[in-house]
Amino acid sequence: MAGKRIVLDVLRGETVFPPPLWMMRQAGRYLPEYRETRKRAGTFLDLCYNPEYAVEVTLQPIERFGFDASILFSDILVVPHALGRALAFEEGRGPVLTPITAAEINDLGTDAFHVNLAPVYETVRTLRKKLPDETTLIGFCGAPWTVATYMIAGHGTPDQAPARLFAYREPAAFARLLKILADQSAAYLVRQIEAGADAVQIFDSWSGVLDEACFEAFCIQPVAEIVRQVKAAYPNVPVIGFPKGAGFNYERYRERTGVQGLGLDWTVPLSAARELQRGGAVQGNLDPLRLVAGGKALSDGVKSILDTLGQGPLVFNLGHGITPETSVPHVEAMVKLVRSGGHG
Ligand code: CP3
Repeated sequence: MAGKRIVLDVLRGETVFPPPLWMMRQAGRYLPEYRETRKRAGTFLDLCYNPEYAVEVTLQPIERFGFDASILFSDILVVPHALGRALAFEEGRGPVLTPITAAEINDLGTDAFHVNLAPVYETVRTLRKKLPDETTLIGFCGAPWTVATYMIAGHGTPDQAPARLFAYREPAAFARLLKILADQSAAYLVRQIEAGADAVQIFDSWSGVLDEACFEAFCIQPVAEIVRQVKAAYPNVPVIGFPKGAGFNYERYRERTGVQGLGLDWTVPLSAARELQRGGAVQGNLDPLRLVAGGKALSDGVKSILDTLGQGPLVFNLGHGITPETSVPHVEAMVKLVRSGGHG
């Protein structure tokens, strides 16, 4: 018998209290067991493409903390990599890609895409077999805009200026890039669902730097296209959108993309989050640095979220990924407090 996956119930609009919880980047360097597996695997990409190791690190935070959802271990940049773009993760520098030109966008090949990503599908299949029945398995991809910022600049930037300038100067090539990324990302999510993912999340980490027209064209439209294609294949699988930093655009984003779950960063005021919750489930939004600090900073943050959002559909999460310097006992304290409904 399939277990009851409460994260799915909440994403479909039910209120569950205490709310289910998981953390973005829950498999990562703050865990000693992750650092150990990572050393054995070799590079970060070796870890992403080796199903045995990727399964192992995905399960580590579930075994340790009993989170209600497990997120596939991979990276958003395997999509450009599978499209033939060079990618490396350099120690202390993050991702490094060869910046793409307008001419190269025309030549992007999609033939080997799913073959290149076969190890990811294998990881998802094995995970669904090994996870507890009641644990929701979340697949993911990066949103076209965020992935494009890395493809164009070749690395992370503070304000995504290279991609914004490219979009203004080469509008046709840029539109083509977003379209390829939207189509391939949708197909990628569909394959993850086929392999056993129960829900999917679209990470738009850099959506907060765009003006109104660009937000509409680069964030909303491509994500709406992904949602449309995923829903055409799997109408009942919830999609979570995480347009980090979207501010005033959050509500429009939810309405126009069709996502069921809305991931909120920690700058979204809880009163505004409460309003957004009227349109469906929200996920978030503890400042990850409250988790680093622990103590009163942590318990105050958790309690405010539970007090304000606990009476509607809420998946408790951080407002962005957990940082490597976070201590494991602080995560344990957060889990205990959320599980007690804020009264621990
Ligand atoms: O949440 C999870 O546990 C699933 C795994 C996951 C990773 N990256 C693993 C990872 C997910 C969902 C991502 C998404 C991702 N990757 C995003 C969107 C979310 C966000 O954080 O904004 C982005 C922008 C990336 C690109 C990326 N990957 C960067 C900029 C970096 C370097 C920064 C850093 O933290 O080192 C990565 C590397 C990365 N991705 C690590 C992990 C665990 C650390 C690499 C290591 O172990 O050495």
